[in-house]
Amino acid sequence: MADIFTLLKRDHDQHREILAELAEADADARQKLFEKFKAEALSHANAEEQTLYAEMMGDPDEQDEARHSVAEHKQIDEYVSTLEEMETTGEDWKATFLKLKHRYEHHIDEEEEEMFPHAKKHISDERAEELGGKFEERKPAEKKEVEAA
Ligand SMILES: [Fe+2]
Ligand SMILES: [Fe+2]
Repeated sequence: MADIFTLLKRDHDQHREILAELAEADADARQKLFEKFKAEALSHANAEEQTLYAEMMGDPDEQDEARHSVAEHKQIDEYVSTLEEMETTGEDWKATFLKLKHRYEHHIDEEEEEMFPHAKKHISDERAEELGGKFEERKPAEKKEVEAA
């Protein structure tokens, strides 16, 4: 079974690919790809909060970092909502999308470069595998909810 850090990184790489595709997509192809990104990224964030972040929240040494990242998830949510209300064929869409892309890439880079190495010092390999199992269980359930909303 994969540990939580491996699973989160695997998702991030997939998100990077979708974002790169979206940046190149013409206006007609945007809608579908954007819905794919939304379902992926929001279900990832929810399941990530329920597993890795929840674990970190319980540790005084890691609580601040987890809180900071929850606040970033909220910002990303807001960008996604803004984009959803815009016409994908409209002129402003691309500029707003590029802001989201920049923000999102910064978030996942920071998780990988700062948060995960820090968390790894506090979480045993065994616990990281348990959290991985929980993530694999939660993510599809969260994805269904995002898609149904
Ligand atoms: Fe995140
Ligand atoms: Fe993440």
